[in-house]
Amino acid sequence: MKQQSESISASNPNRIQVVFKRDPPKKTNEPLSASINSIVHSELSILFNELEGLVGLTEAKKTIYEIYALHQINKEREKHGLHLEKQVFHMVFKGNPGTGKTTVARLFGKIFREMGILTKGHLIEVERADLVGEFIGHTAQKTRELVKKAMGGILFIDEAYSLARGGEKDFGKEAVDCLTKSLEDLNNDFICIIAGYNEEMENFLELNPGLPSRFPIHIDFSDYNVDELLQIAHIMTKNKDFELTVEASDKIRRSLMTIVNNPFQMNFSNARHIRNCIEKAIRVQAVRLLRSNELSREDLIHLKAEDFAL
Ligand SMILES: Nc1ncnc2c1ncn2[C@@H]1O[C@H](COP(=O)(O)OP(=O)(O)O)[C@@H](O)[C@H]1O
Ligand SMILES: [Mg+2]
Repeated sequence: MKQQSESISASNPNRIQVVFKRDPPKKTNEPLSASINSIVHSELSILFNELEGLVGLTEAKKTIYEIYALHQINKEREKHGLHLEKQVFHMVFKGNPGTGKTTVARLFGKIFREMGILTKGHLIEVERADLVGEFIGHTAQKTRELVKKAMGGILFIDEAYSLARGGEKDFGKEAVDCLTKSLEDLNNDFICIIAGYNEEMENFLELNPGLPSRFPIHIDFSDYNVDELLQIAHIMTKNKDFELTVEASDKIRRSLMTIVNNPFQMNFSNARHIRNCIEKAIRVQAVRLLRSNELSREDLIHLKAEDFAL
């Protein structure tokens, strides 16, 4: 489970460092320092706090903070007339469904806008059917139009590998070629994020030699563990002005343990599963409450174990 601890930086006692620790430890030995409290730009600090409020997602948080740091340091370098490090921010998001890829992409768009890297920061989410056309030339036209729509923001291509599924004669290849061309222009005011299952994304990049160098940033979205899923459940209910009773929380935990420990479990949708369970429980609670004559605030807030059909 993620714990958050605050420590005062030795070099600058006014600067509070928020250090994130998770167990089991991730690949890196370095503590993840996200000094978000030192961000002065208020809208940006709100967005960074929103990102921090999401459970887990260590790699995504670390990467966006690195980009923020680079951006700030570039401003300092500019003052001294030094060469400015210009980087490409097209990204690959790898992970199972419901691990937060779309949510993070949407937030990244807004953060990039506040940093001045993107002018609008909106997210255009597309999949194969949006890009691939039905006749020669149609695909390039559709793809170009979507890139145009995404200008100033993020073009998010879900299950990008489905573009390579149909083989040589498939129009998906035309979409990949057209996209590759759009990515070449360094000065383009847009960022492309391709997303999908880990292995499929790796294969897709391997099979399209033009792509890997254009997507220098890879972010892994790992499956949430039971503690994290439960934490997400509590956050989601709280955000909706509901509360899980202890019994309800225990029931969800037991159900999650069974799912997570089942080696044959397929298609588990992580946080989306939690969202669906809670939305269903809210409907069941409503039916339960309608049977009572008088309802207290507590009645309206509490989601009980019996509301969860797990
Ligand atoms: N770390 C998290 N904390 C809280 N809610 C989350 C988190 N990750 C995902 N969610 C929620 O789960 C749902 C699915 O997330 P989404 O970003 O659509 O996943 P993906 O794009 O990887 O399939 C959304 O409702 C989102 O708000
Ligand atoms: Mg998604």
